[in-house]
Amino acid sequence: MEKSGNKKRENWSSRIGFIFAAAGSAVGLGNIWRFPYLTAENGGGAFIFIYLAFVLVIGLSTMLAEFTLGRRTRLGAVGAYKHVDRRWTFAGVLGVLSPFMIMGFYPVVGGWATAYIFKSLTGLLSNPAAIGDAFGAFITNPIEPVFWMVLYLAINIIIVVKGVASGIEKAGKILMPVLFVLMILIGIRSITLEGAGAGLQFMFMPDWSKVHGSTFLAALGQAFFSLSLGMGAMITYGSYLDKQENLPSSALTVTILDTSVAILAAISIIPALFAFGMEPNQGPGLVFIVLPQLFAQLGGIGFLFSAIFFIALMIAALTSSVSLLEVCVAYLIDERGISRKKAVSLAGGSMVITSLLSSLSLGVMSGFTILGVGVFDFFDILTDKIFLAIGGMLVCIVIGWFMNKEDIKDELTNGGSVKFGLFDVWYNLVKYVIPIAIAIVAFFGIISIPHTSLMIFGLAVIAVLAIFSKKL
Ligand code: PFF
Repeated sequence: MEKSGNKKRENWSSRIGFIFAAAGSAVGLGNIWRFPYLTAENGGGAFIFIYLAFVLVIGLSTMLAEFTLGRRTRLGAVGAYKHVDRRWTFAGVLGVLSPFMIMGFYPVVGGWATAYIFKSLTGLLSNPAAIGDAFGAFITNPIEPVFWMVLYLAINIIIVVKGVASGIEKAGKILMPVLFVLMILIGIRSITLEGAGAGLQFMFMPDWSKVHGSTFLAALGQAFFSLSLGMGAMITYGSYLDKQENLPSSALTVTILDTSVAILAAISIIPALFAFGMEPNQGPGLVFIVLPQLFAQLGGIGFLFSAIFFIALMIAALTSSVSLLEVCVAYLIDERGISRKKAVSLAGGSMVITSLLSSLSLGVMSGFTILGVGVFDFFDILTDKIFLAIGGMLVCIVIGWFMNKEDIKDELTNGGSVKFGLFDVWYNLVKYVIPIAIAIVAFFGIISIPHTSLMIFGLAVIAVLAIFSKKL
């Protein structure tokens, strides 16, 4: 396959800038909001163990596959697939549909984080016993969370309008290190609380009796979600990457950073949860309920820690959601020939509507369901449990079976100048092991209740895309 010439493509201004931006995309609500509650819900240690195995064997290799596809073609998701083989355009379309759908619920949670910055400063911690109820009342309110969601989305839109290098990079570079240090401090406080030992045991001593078919799919979906894989994001980011960049070491760095933040987040939250004598089954409210209680325990300066934490959470969410928006925008610019400004308004405007429905589905619209779930869960489950896993499988199939092995080796080793001794291991993983592993996990996940009909619907959507997007 020849290289595609897209001379005017924007580039990252430095290596560190790219790592920060890619890590910024990976580290987000997935690590801090989602990973701890999934771990708590799925039995603790066993879930963490399966998750780490998936990250190492499937996630890391898939990330490298996405970087390679993006940089080789120098195109966004749809263009990259189309460039390899027109029949695979649908995989790229799926890679744009998924971030669009994730942006149907992500800004809602981003808005919660934003709201909690202000709530921390205005009395959230004054009555620790009421923190749980206050969270429930807040997210079911028809107006307040919508206001914060719109504000959060507006910030995304402003950053993405400014373009790749100036907007996304700057935000990531300054705020990711702050988040990291903060998570370490909170983690230390959490494990030194009285009664935290039970939480650590829960996290690190696997109880295999809690593992079901759906646990594996949950861990796989979370691995893809957290690493920003299985859609167009890392392909698009790879397309902005310089030809000198060392792809294997970039993928490894991003994976290690992302996984450490997820584990740190779980260490910050789960031991505290046990120390407070709460049930692990708190669901999506976990981080918004447990951490404020921990901050309240710090006494006088607790509110400051709380505000700084939610600022960092909001920023982590922001550096992820801008990448989701960027995938949709890059598609509109590259494939539809629309200007950046117009593309951002179109994509951002539609996301306001989908996120509005998601937010309301937790309160006044809770009676409205699609295939048995509310709008928020519809977007969440469909992307996380089906689209990302299948998207990851497709990128591996395309690289393994539809591209020339020598071309890929050339791209991965920068024409032979970078050593990558594990090339054959990686190549066989991508070509055979990962597609089969994903198929098995998806099969057992889909047949295990609940949500079977929703997942079959997801597969049907992919099939329809495969049939119709040939014409795109
Ligand atoms: N990885 C992000 C997180 O963990 O919050 C979410 C995400 C961002 C997923 C970008 C996918 C993506 F393309």
